[in-house]
Amino acid sequence: MKKGSKRLLSLKPYPFAEVNQARDKAIQAGIDVIDMGVGNPDLRPPAPIPQFLKEALDDQTTQYHRYPPFHGLRELREAASRWYRRRFKVTVDPEREILPLIGSKEGIAKFFLAHLDPGDIAIITSPCYPAYLGAIGISDGDLYELPLRETNGFRPDLKEIPQEVLERAVLILINYPNNPTGAVETQELYEEILEVAERFDLIVISDIAYAELNLEPTYRAMSFLEIPGAKARTIEFYSFSKTYSMPGWRLGFAAGNADLLANLLKIKTNMDFGVFMAMQKAGARVLDAGDRLIEPTRRHYRERRDVLIEKLAGTGLRAIKPLATIYVWAAIPKAFTSSMEFSKAVLEKAGVVLAPGIGFGTFGEGYVRISLIEDRLRLEEAVTRMVDSGLI
Ligand SMILES: Cc1ncc(COP(=O)(O)O)c(C=O)c1O
Repeated sequence: MKKGSKRLLSLKPYPFAEVNQARDKAIQAGIDVIDMGVGNPDLRPPAPIPQFLKEALDDQTTQYHRYPPFHGLRELREAASRWYRRRFKVTVDPEREILPLIGSKEGIAKFFLAHLDPGDIAIITSPCYPAYLGAIGISDGDLYELPLRETNGFRPDLKEIPQEVLERAVLILINYPNNPTGAVETQELYEEILEVAERFDLIVISDIAYAELNLEPTYRAMSFLEIPGAKARTIEFYSFSKTYSMPGWRLGFAAGNADLLANLLKIKTNMDFGVFMAMQKAGARVLDAGDRLIEPTRRHYRERRDVLIEKLAGTGLRAIKPLATIYVWAAIPKAFTSSMEFSKAVLEKAGVVLAPGIGFGTFGEGYVRISLIEDRLRLEEAVTRMVDSGLI
């Protein structure tokens, strides 16, 4: 029997598989593991959200139970368009410039399939959301990791990209607010990215999964589509998963250039049928409900961030305070030579799971990501355990 396609066999194992295996073994051995490795929210979706779904399910017609239209439910596209106008003052046509997705991970991976041929380069900032790396591996394209360095506020220096890379590149992917570093964009950076994209005729992929999870009222994330002229070459991805604590629902959407969305839709039409329409209907109501559903979530993560940052102060694990996202990015103690070595030691000696930076790409080495998905007492206990075991 054939083992698998070249595509499959050349895929690297999931970067956190090793740590996850060790975690599962520790749990089986009866250890009380504090898991801050994954970005899987522990909060319930705010109360009205399950109710929105319930009301759609209680609809006595068959309308929500049939195959959905390939380009998504009109109500969701219109609500997404209203959200863009309200939130970013950006106009997007709900017919051609919005496309509902089965979560943004799906859309991003299929977008790579739609645009990368052998020899094409995808420029991806690094460290990054690991799914980008896997999805590039599945596509025919090559990866160029554009470093996000702490000395530059985890923003890329576009001058670092070699000319030959820019010439072979088809797209550049940016993600602000950033997973895993918690860094945020500046308007100047976005303008510079668009200028380079125009000069080298690149597509811009902007991932704004955390745009609503600012942890300070003084910062509000931008959409890349706010930059004049960006819509000519940009596709932007948004996700319901973290903002509304509904990652298991699988709901997101893309917005931006109509031709880019049509390309993604062509791939999707051949591979999936989109999201259950009752969920798309609920999603439309979630977007229209606006900020009142998000503020308590922001408060939760802000409080957890502050507790963790305070508790880590003065230890050997140097945390960087994020302005947004649900993550704290931290530089590993000097005594350790790699993020994997440190993460394994933390699990073994303190029963705490942190995500090793190397799993987020080459330029994640030297750091770990701590997800704010445990309550404050558990966060404090995790730090106490790491301190008591002499690791940090
Ligand atoms: C930056 C980023 N983009 C996209 C996603 C995927 O979100 P979704 O659940 O919509 O697929 C995540 C999830 O962790 C993420 O961190």
